[in-house]
This record gives sequence, structure tokens and C-alpha cells, in this order.
Amino acid sequence: MHTSWEHRYAHRTQGMKSSAIRELLKVSSLPGMISFGGGFPAPEVFPIEKFKEACDTVLTEMGKQALQYGATEGYQPLRELIASNAGKYGIQVSADNVLITTGSQQSLDLLGKIFINRGDRILVESPTYLGALQAWNAYGCNYVTIDSDDDGMQTEQLHDLISTNIKFIYALPNFQNPSGTTLSLERRKQLIELANSQGVPIIEDDPYGQLRYEGEHLPPVVVLDDEIRSKEFPVYSGNVIYTSTFSKILAPGLRLAWVVAPVDVIKKLVQAKQGSDLNTSTFNQFVAYELAKSPWMREHIQTIRKVYRERRDTMLEALENNMPEGTDWTKPKGGLFLWVKLPEGCDTTKLFPKAIEEKVAYVPGESFHPNGGGKNTMRLNFSACNPETIKIGIQRLGKMIKDQLK
Ligand SMILES: Cc1ncc(COP(=O)(O)O)c(C=O)c1O
Repeated sequence: MHTSWEHRYAHRTQGMKSSAIRELLKVSSLPGMISFGGGFPAPEVFPIEKFKEACDTVLTEMGKQALQYGATEGYQPLRELIASNAGKYGIQVSADNVLITTGSQQSLDLLGKIFINRGDRILVESPTYLGALQAWNAYGCNYVTIDSDDDGMQTEQLHDLISTNIKFIYALPNFQNPSGTTLSLERRKQLIELANSQGVPIIEDDPYGQLRYEGEHLPPVVVLDDEIRSKEFPVYSGNVIYTSTFSKILAPGLRLAWVVAPVDVIKKLVQAKQGSDLNTSTFNQFVAYELAKSPWMREHIQTIRKVYRERRDTMLEALENNMPEGTDWTKPKGGLFLWVKLPEGCDTTKLFPKAIEEKVAYVPGESFHPNGGGKNTMRLNFSACNPETIKIGIQRLGKMIKDQLK
């Protein structure tokens, strides 16, 4: 007899759904498909030889430690390296301000676990990162959305929204996933000033900050906050929780990321993580440390930037050549994604099967809007395919959209 499990699940699982992207990745592997769907780094830039050398060093010199359980906080030399790199970007932190996690996705989940009560209101951009919504839906929160444009979150709207009992603000200032836009310096300052004045914390998610292809580096919001406070406190104890990851600068298969936060928050996250996975893979942390401490790392990031810049430019040019009148798209200065807006009335979810028939995949934009909207939008990834494939894929996409508009 078939046993039904539906009535046995906890209340919190009712909000859980499979991510549209994860479902889509299944279609992406069909033969001949060109996928702009996932957020995959280019496998061509994975430093496989360097990984082999690092694994060898770790196993030869530190094998017994590297294969053992480790501290929940993370491998101390790696925490220190991250703290010292943060120092170079202008934020004064020590290793005590750093927690190593099993991917930024875990960082987001742990933050949800320690902060969100059922019914809490979280302020997010619309569109925003789907993975954060997926992590936090399980904790029963509601979303208050703020619009964004080419300069990121429209902080002019913050004043009214922030006073409506917001638990925290989730911000993606650099080359936002999904839209590819960057929060301007002026808006970064406005964001931190308003958040501080209202006592609302910010979670700043920054997986792509080092992948800038043009323009000047902008200080993360956590750095701006630290500048305001650093006269009084030797290490960071402010209002921002910052997350980043090795996924896009080394390899997502490592599942390795970090949180920078005031020490109190790190302690609470450690307690939450203990119940989750005890510690982040010790071996992976040792290997990542060997790579990240080497001067080679800078060159490697330069290589990634060069490869992705070319792919971004190819996609922008192909869109120019193939998209019908009335279509618009963002011009990201970094990251992995751009955002296409079709004429009003188009529905990219309904068009998706047509795209699959043409053997090209994207992510319909609707799922990035927690409170609805964005039906005529789609996210395109430009890092995973080589330039020739990008050209063919955008031709297919353009043709499909033109056919449908007829
Ligand atoms: C904005 C954002 N946050 C978090 C993540 C998750 O990263 P990780 O691979 O470190 O779990 C991603 C991955 O694409 C992302 O785009």
C-alpha cells in the first residue's frame, strides 16, 4: 500500500518548493541544449592542476588534521586570511568576526535560522536572489519588496518601507543576482545611514564583488558602516552582516564560503551551524587555504575576469543583433548575469517550452519576485557558455521571441 506522507510534515515545510532553477537545470542537460539558465562558472577556468598540487600538499603535510573533524568556526588560518583580506578592502576585523560555511547558501540558511520568527517582515529587492527566498521561506517570513533600477535598490523608497517593522534588509550591491545591476555609491551610503538610524540590520550578500569587468571598485556597505564606527571600536561591531564565497573565484564544488559579522552574531551562527553540519569540510578548507594564500590567486581572478568580460560583451552584442524592437536588457559591470525585459504582455514562463523546443534555456523572471510581477522578464547567465555558443543561443532566443510576437 502507498503511504501518504503529506500530513506528517511540519508546518514550516508547507512553504518549501523546488527552486525553479534547480528544476530547470534538468532540462539544461538535454542533448543540444544551450543553457543560459544556471549560475555556473565556466568549467574552463577551474584550476584543476592547482587543485591537484594543493590536495597533494595538504595530504602529505597535514593529512591527519585535514581528514579529521574541525572547529565549527572554521579552519583558523583560513579565517585569519579572510580577516586580513577584509582589512585590505577597508574593514577592520579579526578572525573572531569570520565564520566559514558550507557555501553562501548555508550562510543564508543559518541567518534565517537565528533571526527569523514566523511572520517576520524581510525587506528584499524585487527581483532578488531566489536561493535566499528558498532558504527563508522555511522560517515562515513575509517579504516587503523594494523596486530596483540600473543603479540597484531604489533607496528613495526605503524611508517609508523601513519604518514598517522590518526585521532585516537583504541587499546585493554588486552585479546583483538576477539583474546584474550595481548599487551606486550614493545609494550605498543612503542605505547604511537609513538602516543605522532605524536600527534595522543589513545582510549584504556579495558573491561577485571580485568579478568586476569595468569601472571603479565600490566599497561594500559593511565597509561604509565600519568607516562610520572605526574611531570608537577596534574591530567591526556594526549593523551589517556580510557574506561571500569561494564558489565563483575557485570552484562551487568546494561548497565553501564565509560570513563576516560582529562577534556576537558569529557566536550565535556557530551554535546554529553545530546543529546543522558540525563543521565545514575540513579537507576542503585546507585545500582552499593553500590556494587562496598564494599570490597566484590574484592572477587567477584576473583570468576569470578576462574570460567573463569577453562572454558578457559577446552576449550584449548578440542581444543587440537579435532581439526584437521593444526589448530591453541590463548592461552589467561584473558578475554572471543579465536581465532581459520583453514588451509588456509577454509571459516568459509561458514562452519557456517554446524556448526549449528551440534548444535554448533561460530562467523566467517571475520566480525572483516574491510578491509577484516580472512576468515579461528573464535572467540570462553569460559565464557558462563559450562565445560561439552564446551567439548561437541568443540567435535561437531572438528568433523564438520574434516568432511569438508575430
Ligand atoms: C547572490 C547569491 N548568494 C548566494 C549564492 C550561493 O553561493 P554558494 O555557492 O556559496 O552557496 C549565490 C550563488 O549563485 C548567489 O548568486
